[in-house]
Amino acid sequence: MTTAWTRESWRVKPIVQVPDYTNPAALKAVEQRLSTFPPLVFAGEARSLKRSLGDVAQGRGFLLQGGDCAESFAEFHPDNIRDTFRVLLQMAVVLTFGAGVPIVKLGRMAGQFAKPRSSNTENVDGVELPSYRGDMVNGMDFTAEQREPDPERLVQAYNQSAATLNLLRAFSQGGYADLHKVHQWTLGFVADSAQGERYQDLADRIQEALAFMEACGINSQAVPSMRETDFYTSHESLLLNYEEALTRMDSTTGRWYACAAHFLWIGERTRQLDHAHVEFLRGVDNPIGFKAGPTVDPDDVLRMIDTLNPQNEAGRITIITRMGAEKLQDHLPKLIQTVEREGKTVVWSCDPMHANTEKSSSGYKTRHFDNVLGEVRSFFDVHRSEGTHAGGVHFEMTGQDVTECVGGAQAITEASLGDRYHTHCDPRLNASQALELAFLMAEMLKQDRQASAANAIAS
Ligand code: PEP
Ligand code: CO
Repeated sequence: MTTAWTRESWRVKPIVQVPDYTNPAALKAVEQRLSTFPPLVFAGEARSLKRSLGDVAQGRGFLLQGGDCAESFAEFHPDNIRDTFRVLLQMAVVLTFGAGVPIVKLGRMAGQFAKPRSSNTENVDGVELPSYRGDMVNGMDFTAEQREPDPERLVQAYNQSAATLNLLRAFSQGGYADLHKVHQWTLGFVADSAQGERYQDLADRIQEALAFMEACGINSQAVPSMRETDFYTSHESLLLNYEEALTRMDSTTGRWYACAAHFLWIGERTRQLDHAHVEFLRGVDNPIGFKAGPTVDPDDVLRMIDTLNPQNEAGRITIITRMGAEKLQDHLPKLIQTVEREGKTVVWSCDPMHANTEKSSSGYKTRHFDNVLGEVRSFFDVHRSEGTHAGGVHFEMTGQDVTECVGGAQAITEASLGDRYHTHCDPRLNASQALELAFLMAEMLKQDRQASAANAIAS
């Protein structure tokens, strides 16, 4: 039997992956301060994202979610925010062409600071210290002082999230995202590459179409959606004390919303049904997601959906599978069949990053472009044969010219990983690799579209 939900009902449940603060009074004081700060997002925005995701769940849209594995205090710079934003815009344009449906844009941005870790401690040359859990918790340097969890970092993460979101709102609503600027979204280092040229060709076609529409009297003055875009934020809901402090009641509906981001997800390591993370998220009305790795039990997923979305509301739940290309073939069909058999409406999204992480010969944690692509391809194939909608993708990526993932048209090698390896956690696709993937996915989406059109004619 479930007990009543409150903002703090998660506190009596078992919990994993949370930091060990040594000064509870300081932590409490920070939580109290945070609870007086303005919300970062508004309930109405979370509702409109949920509506759009409801369309995705019903096959009328596609979700593009992406950003850093972990945002950092050191890399906080307007250029970095702008660059990730514009790669996402470029990818969305490319995908729109392939899918022929609206693309829902969701950044792993403005709050993606806290990380689950496989071990609580790290051991270097016989010295044992707490693991780095993201800048919102402690510092990355391997010193006792840096690794001590510091509650003040919660406030710094809030402030950085607020400033990031402010810039994202300005970019998406203030003219930068105007379709007439489609040529200007290209990043310098991508411009001369094959991806850059391909993108310019696409941008030329869009420009032509816009000129035609302009001649017919359709322009961005008359149609706001041509000059601005909806861009939403998301992060893993890991530090529940932070989420609790920013959870507010919406005065128009009387419902609770987590106001640190529009969309929150539960990670692979914290999705135990009777634990704190599921308890917290069941009570907020935002659209939410959870990761599903290769070991997930389909019946547990059903129980999870029943707990988190008892009304089966479309757009509430996104299942983000992250299984690895081969394992996905073995496990995803059964998962889809179980969820579909019970009539549950969900967005199916593919995270092709987290089951494809490996150690390179040079010692860096990396991912191979071909494995990432392989998982996306398998995801599309399985959904096509199950007759379900491959609804979205979830990438770790950046607008910067980093060398963290191997391969792609740029042919980054294991030996060159050290050139520009800047991530604070997992290896990210760079802008060129991300755009390349978008073009390849656009082809898959187009095939899906043609296949369903052919089916419609045949039936
Ligand atoms: C992540 O998305 O950064 C992450 C830790 O993923 P997962 O929970 O799927 O391992
Ligand atoms: Co990650």
